[in-house]
Amino acid sequence: MRNLMITGGAGFIGSNFTRYVLDRYPEYHVVVYDKLTYAGNLDNLEDTAERFADRYAFVRGDICDAAGVRETIRSYGVDTIVNFAAETHVDRSIMDPDAFIQTDVYGTFVLLEATRELGLERMHQVSTDEVYGHVPVGALQETDPVAPRSPYAASKTSGDLMVLAYHITYGLPVTITRGANNIGPYQYPEKVVPLFVTNALDDLPLPLYGDGLQVRDYQYVLDHCEAIDLVLHEGGVGEIYNIGTGTEMRNLDMTRLILELLNKPQSLIQPVQDRPGHDRRYALDVTKIRALGWEPAHTCEEAIAKTVRWYVENEWWWRPIKSGEHYQAYYRQQYEGREIES
Ligand code: NAD
Ligand code: TYD
Repeated sequence: MRNLMITGGAGFIGSNFTRYVLDRYPEYHVVVYDKLTYAGNLDNLEDTAERFADRYAFVRGDICDAAGVRETIRSYGVDTIVNFAAETHVDRSIMDPDAFIQTDVYGTFVLLEATRELGLERMHQVSTDEVYGHVPVGALQETDPVAPRSPYAASKTSGDLMVLAYHITYGLPVTITRGANNIGPYQYPEKVVPLFVTNALDDLPLPLYGDGLQVRDYQYVLDHCEAIDLVLHEGGVGEIYNIGTGTEMRNLDMTRLILELLNKPQSLIQPVQDRPGHDRRYALDVTKIRALGWEPAHTCEEAIAKTVRWYVENEWWWRPIKSGEHYQAYYRQQYEGREIES
């Protein structure tokens, strides 16, 4: 494992993982293969392209394009695929699921076929805790049934099932990680934490869905990257690993903490109509990844504090996104007229 193709490497977690791998393994080469959708951004990799010019390459391409995927694998002597490429935002999947089915299901299939035909050493699928659906009590293990409830979660689950089927049917060397909510540098400001931090910095309302008592496990992106690295190198082939802090936080408490850290008034919280089918709670049992020797370096609170600091210090990154026409149109469509007056 020395030549990695990191699909979706221009997105949030993929760009953090690319930088992390090039830093950690001086002998590795990485080619980022990314379609550059609204969520893909070469600014995320600007420093990486400069620092690792001899071991890093970028190819603009779609994982649904079988010929493009094969050509990239051949030209760069790729032996391992780490697949981050996906449509990732639940609210967009509710408005328009089409691209989710294309990329998260068909695109995953294309990568599996390429892995099989070209005899790669590993195809790693980056998946999500959302495949398990709402978890009323306790914490779920990797062997628990999947029960996705949004088009996004259903598309990711379908990808996972295809990855497992390829392992069982063709003996493909695959691994899967299912991560809890990630936060940290370079996360597109549609996801709740960067959205709330950047809105608060501009004294704009923070649109909190429903009663705000939904529960998530907000983990720091580099903790997640370390765990993926560990699974790639030490994980069992054909195995699934849950990744998260294993603790929980209510959205209302996450929101209050962001406002406190920024010294902004709690009155910026604006209750809005809830997301349809909103999963109230996610909770992962992380015993299996811990048994491999991994531990998160940050609690949810520490992850939030570090993330807030990054957005305060990196307006150059998020201001152009938020002022762009694509973002503005999305924001209007998603939030206009949704306020609940108390
Ligand atoms: P992101 O939306 O920030 O980035 C996705 C990247 O994939 C973008 O660079 C985009 O251009 C690229 N992409 C989309 N469609 C593509 C296609 N057809 N071909 C090639 N590239 C394409 O996403 P993220 O938050 O970094 O998530 C990365 C992965 O991690 C996803 O698979 C997601 O399901 C999973 N995940 C995310 C979280 C989270 O909290 N963000 C948690 C667990 C798992
Ligand atoms: P999100 O970042 O979209 O991640 P996911 O739904 O995939 O876990 O949302 C995290 C939580 O925050 C989720 O419970 C929905 C909630 N949320 C809001 O309250 N307001 C918002 O504007 C957004 C985007 C999310």
